[in-house]
Amino acid sequence: MADALVERLHSLKKERNAVILAHSYQPADIQDVADYVGDSLGLSRLAADTDADVILFCGVHFMAETAAVLSPGKTVLIPDGNAGCPMANMVTPRQLREWREKNPDAVVVTYVNSSARVKALSDICCTSANAVEVVATIPKDKHVLFVPDRNLGHYVKTKLGREMELWNGFCPTHERMLPGMAVEARKQHPGAPLMVHPECRPDLVAMADFVASTTGIIKHCHDSAEREFIIATEIGILHPLRKQNPDKVFHPLTVVADCPNMKLNSIEKMVWALEDMEPVVTVPADIAEKALQPIRRMLEIG
Ligand code: 13P
Ligand code: SF4
Repeated sequence: MADALVERLHSLKKERNAVILAHSYQPADIQDVADYVGDSLGLSRLAADTDADVILFCGVHFMAETAAVLSPGKTVLIPDGNAGCPMANMVTPRQLREWREKNPDAVVVTYVNSSARVKALSDICCTSANAVEVVATIPKDKHVLFVPDRNLGHYVKTKLGREMELWNGFCPTHERMLPGMAVEARKQHPGAPLMVHPECRPDLVAMADFVASTTGIIKHCHDSAEREFIIATEIGILHPLRKQNPDKVFHPLTVVADCPNMKLNSIEKMVWALEDMEPVVTVPADIAEKALQPIRRMLEIG
């Protein structure tokens, strides 16, 4: 049955001239059938460059929206239309507009984990892979409003030693990982370096041996001479880590670091999406035009 579904998926992909993009938090079987697996930044770039007619975006809604903004002529599908990101929903356009009005001279830096409407009210976007570089381009005398992730914002502040005002949003999945778990994991796996995503709480980030986005963690583990690692990010990442490094051992900091939204997608829903050509993710043209500017500024930096 599973093989028959995958066969059907491949033939629909050809028929529709579709490309399958998958985030590395997606279920393992989805990552295995994807054309590209990557982080938010890498997948945005691929979405902008593809010559496919259809992008089947296996991730969460804001990622598919970003693809729609970057590829206005293409049809962007998401396997499950309910796969949202709770952090992206923690700031509304009205709230950001009001924050801006109170700080008219500030520069608004918006994490891509946000809606297109919020991006449309922003000066520049960032991902977890380039947030430090993006903020570093802003003149030091400028006040910065960072939205919506307080944890990524805190990490950038610490790295650059500069003040920024942070919105009080967070990723519920990364917030679940606690310093006590790292103490315990280090006892269980002595010497294994602790890899931490910057969406984690500052007290856990402070304990890390290495802090990076998903792609940064994957690259570091691959290039490192170490054989064993403790991984503090969403557990979907264990699949590419283990697949690319069969001789190394990866311990999740906790198995409860599971994003239920990422796991709403399935192979079956991918087949349905390509069969029915829905759910389509669209962004109204006026919003897309405004959201494109801060996304483009980010892509020009790195
Ligand atoms: P990256 O892909 O930037 O590592 O982001 C992690 C994330 O939470 C995506 O939802
Ligand atoms: Fe959102 Fe966190 Fe899930 Fe990423 S892992 S989609 S930030 S809730």
